[in-house]
Amino acid sequence: MIAPDTAAPVASQEPIHQGSFWLPKAVSTLAPGVDNAWNIVMWVCVFFFVLVIGTMLYFMWKYKRRSENDVTSNIDHSARLEIAWTLLPLIIVMALFFVGLTGFMNSAVAPSDSFEIQVTGERWLWTFIYPNGTISPTKLIVPKGKPVRMVMSSKDVIHSFFVPEFRIKRDVIPGQYTSIWFEATEAGKYTLECTEYCGQGHSDMLATVEVVEPEAFKQWLESGGEDKNMPPAKRGEGLFAKWQCGTCHSLDGSRKVGPSLKGLFNRDETMNDGKVVKADENYLRESILVSNAKVVKGYEPVMPLFKDTLKDDQVDALIAYIKEQK
Ligand code: CUA
Repeated sequence: MIAPDTAAPVASQEPIHQGSFWLPKAVSTLAPGVDNAWNIVMWVCVFFFVLVIGTMLYFMWKYKRRSENDVTSNIDHSARLEIAWTLLPLIIVMALFFVGLTGFMNSAVAPSDSFEIQVTGERWLWTFIYPNGTISPTKLIVPKGKPVRMVMSSKDVIHSFFVPEFRIKRDVIPGQYTSIWFEATEAGKYTLECTEYCGQGHSDMLATVEVVEPEAFKQWLESGGEDKNMPPAKRGEGLFAKWQCGTCHSLDGSRKVGPSLKGLFNRDETMNDGKVVKADENYLRESILVSNAKVVKGYEPVMPLFKDTLKDDQVDALIAYIKEQK
């Protein structure tokens, strides 16, 4: 079962969750610990800010030189005061260290019964591969109330996996695996952001995280939910949206990271080696599956390769859709 076209028919239609003034809504079992640490650090800072600034203002007023002869006596150092302001902060930062350490340990080690999902980051696309082979681009569907472990790697540069509502963030690095886990506590839709600057499309490198009830998750995973009984161009439109091709390819002729698809079919295109190629079915097929085989003049060979992820009938559907972009 590969790449269901119609993504999850599951989950509630709740809007993206709104956060509080300080923090986004907390929707994972790790979140309370992180928020706790954040609150402690913040209130310690607020306390010392008020103490230091308040004392400063008070001394400015108290020791203001009010007349010619108003000279304050020379104050030497105070050992007691110096010991106090060395030891107290030491105790405070050690306490903060243990608060942070506890949270870090909790987030670093996934429970042994975690459900594993393979995550691939590449410019500028997130892809999720489930244990049964289901491939879901730009949409991470996870069950509520079950620990889920992400095993992550990048195909090109460093990206970073960040879901604010879950309070988790970890770099996704080429040539090695990193992992992170979470257990979502509430069904709904959240946003996965790339939080490591990775080039032109970085700010668009988003994915939807959909937390669904365990039953609905099981159904989605088993069915894959692909509907092949639609007109190819219509199905192609769905695939185009699902794989977020529009991030780099406009349909209105405007220039983005990649060439626009408007009027592309059967047009003569000049490649970066000077050759002119007709954009027929074979060219489109090759450009989708092995995008760096021929690169249009003036563009970079940055498109992901789809030879391992798209099936023939899905490529057919995409080509049918591209043909319609007149
Ligand atoms: Cu990927 Cu920023």
